[in-house]
Amino acid sequence: MTQDEMKQAVARAARDYVAVNLPAGGILGVGTGSTANFFIDELAAIKGQLGGTVASSEATKKRLEGHGIRVLDLNDVDAMGIYVDGADEIDHGLSMVKGGGGALTREKIVAAVAKTFVCICDASKRVPVMGKFPLPVEVIPMARAYVARELGKLGGTPKLREGFVTDNGNLILDVHGLSISAPAELEARINQIVGVVTNGLFAQRGADLLLLATPDGVQRYQR
Ligand code: 5RP
Repeated sequence: MTQDEMKQAVARAARDYVAVNLPAGGILGVGTGSTANFFIDELAAIKGQLGGTVASSEATKKRLEGHGIRVLDLNDVDAMGIYVDGADEIDHGLSMVKGGGGALTREKIVAAVAKTFVCICDASKRVPVMGKFPLPVEVIPMARAYVARELGKLGGTPKLREGFVTDNGNLILDVHGLSISAPAELEARINQIVGVVTNGLFAQRGADLLLLATPDGVQRYQR
């Protein structure tokens, strides 16, 4: 089974989960990345069930609208039943590293509003300890060098994501060389650095359900 076939399989499983668990007319949050893109393509089949969606990036908004799926401003939404998104790494406690696609801040905002966070990924993303995938940190441009120095003090090696600007007009520092044994603590610590907008650790608000594509089928892990 190729990685794309696994992404396709988990996207289908997530669509079925939404079809069963999101009440008719409910609001769905939609993530960003290649796995989320497979999910968006599957979602078209059940779009009549959705009251609307909230997109975690401009790219996701464009893809949803391309399928004729209604996209709402988060400020017009009081409640969101389910948020479906991928991850770059996920540990056994369902904490995640996200932001490989640079959409971490909007993803974290949508995740905060959602009642249930469903993470979809292939088996390569499930790890005992996170940190092999560089941790993305979104920073205000004028604070880039200061934040990089502060991140260095935490034991990581920050590298500017060259030629990349987030949907919010900010920069990304990818922090290499971390071994993340206490994700919630590190998430809070990095967010305290002045000039940091968000970091890609989703531990304080991790996933509630992981749908994991493996060569033997899609496995479920509940928080
Ligand atoms: C984007 C993300 C994505 O969810 C993450 O990068 C996974 O992407 P993919 O499904 O392409 O592996 O956090 O900011």
